[in-house]
Amino acid sequence: MSSAYLQCIEESCGRRQDPKKDAHACAFCGGLLEVKYDFEAFDPEEVRHAWHQRRLSGEPIDRSGVWRFRELIPFIEAGNRIISLSEGSTPLVGTRRTGWWAGPVHLTIKHQGNNPTGSFKDLGMTACITRADVRGVRMVACASTGNTSSSMAAYAARAGMKALLFVPYRQISAAKLAQSLDFGALVVEVGDTFDEAFRLLREIAPELGLYLVNSINPFRIEGQKTIVAEMLEQRAWRPPDYIVVPGGNLGNCSAIGKGLRELKEMGFIEKVPHVVVIQAAGANPFFRMMSSGAEELTPVEHPNTQATAIRIGHPANWKKARRVLEWTGGFCESVTDEEIYEAKAMLAADGVACEPASASTVAGVRKLVRAGKIPWHADIVCVLTGNQLKDTEYIMRHRAEAQETHQRLRVDPDLDALRKALEAALAVPA
Ligand code: F0G
Repeated sequence: MSSAYLQCIEESCGRRQDPKKDAHACAFCGGLLEVKYDFEAFDPEEVRHAWHQRRLSGEPIDRSGVWRFRELIPFIEAGNRIISLSEGSTPLVGTRRTGWWAGPVHLTIKHQGNNPTGSFKDLGMTACITRADVRGVRMVACASTGNTSSSMAAYAARAGMKALLFVPYRQISAAKLAQSLDFGALVVEVGDTFDEAFRLLREIAPELGLYLVNSINPFRIEGQKTIVAEMLEQRAWRPPDYIVVPGGNLGNCSAIGKGLRELKEMGFIEKVPHVVVIQAAGANPFFRMMSSGAEELTPVEHPNTQATAIRIGHPANWKKARRVLEWTGGFCESVTDEEIYEAKAMLAADGVACEPASASTVAGVRKLVRAGKIPWHADIVCVLTGNQLKDTEYIMRHRAEAQETHQRLRVDPDLDALRKALEAALAVPA
């Protein structure tokens, strides 16, 4: 029997919600909701052993890097079907040059781009679509900068549900749009920003009876929080000093914070890493609020960054995210598009690639080390949230100078011409 219930996060309210409904906002005060459990007492050693053993299993539920940790997300009754695409189980990769460049720090990469649809969203989506399936939902909807939509489209297809996506017109990468279309979703291009598309979706959702799977849906956060257990297991349960994530709608940092808090309360870890959020300078309302000490978030009206995944001016989860930074002694930093590109190029030189939003983490670490806010040789995990091929237009734009730097040659099909061209190009050091 599941002990899960939904509760308002507002201190002045904190009320439990009607268990018959999966709401996205408190029925009493409109605040954000979170999933709570009456966890049974765990023996962390035993549970760790069970998680480890499941890696040898061929069962789909055990092959998922989310459901393998099912003791942490007991909101589905045993026997219900799980909508999974074998998400999670992503690599933790050491860096060589990037750690020196950004620090010197001990920098590892948790690469969430290695998920079925190429982003970290798949962790939350398996949880949320499974929940929707149990509830008998036939149509799911989200607004998105491109990754949530691709992920939702895939998991909805898997579950046999209709998928309705709202995306800002011409503001998401072609690859992400193509993914969603490929999975058969209905794509509505509306508004200039994610914020506009999201506002319209929230307004129309009750009329159409839509089940929203944006990160205001607390079950998304449940799936996403399992990244912490997987990362710690890969590190032999030694927490790093810092976990660094990009900040858009601020669901991911909320999920990581919730995961850390629960693992600490259950005795899996003693030390809690500082959670650090990095925003793009043109879309940094959370950074502005945290650094000014303001009580409330002031939205950025015209968010702008080439890291389109995090081009968000009014993040829905800012209250959860602020709590996480307070609990963990974390902070927020803001980086320019130029700094993001430098970090992305540096990672690529290390053989690690990602989409631009993800590289903001490494750019943020470099900036924070230079400012003396993160000490030299700190043990840091940067979460790379999306795959390199999510935004190839960005790469081609930035590598346009490749022609002049002898990285890309167009040569007449003639041996002499080929020799001449290669002589110059191969003289350039690696
Ligand atoms: N990185 C990538 C690649 C993303 O797609 C997103 C968010 C983030 C970071 C930020 O995560 O919103 O949890 O703070 N993408 C959402 C989307 C908004 O619609 O795909 P967050």
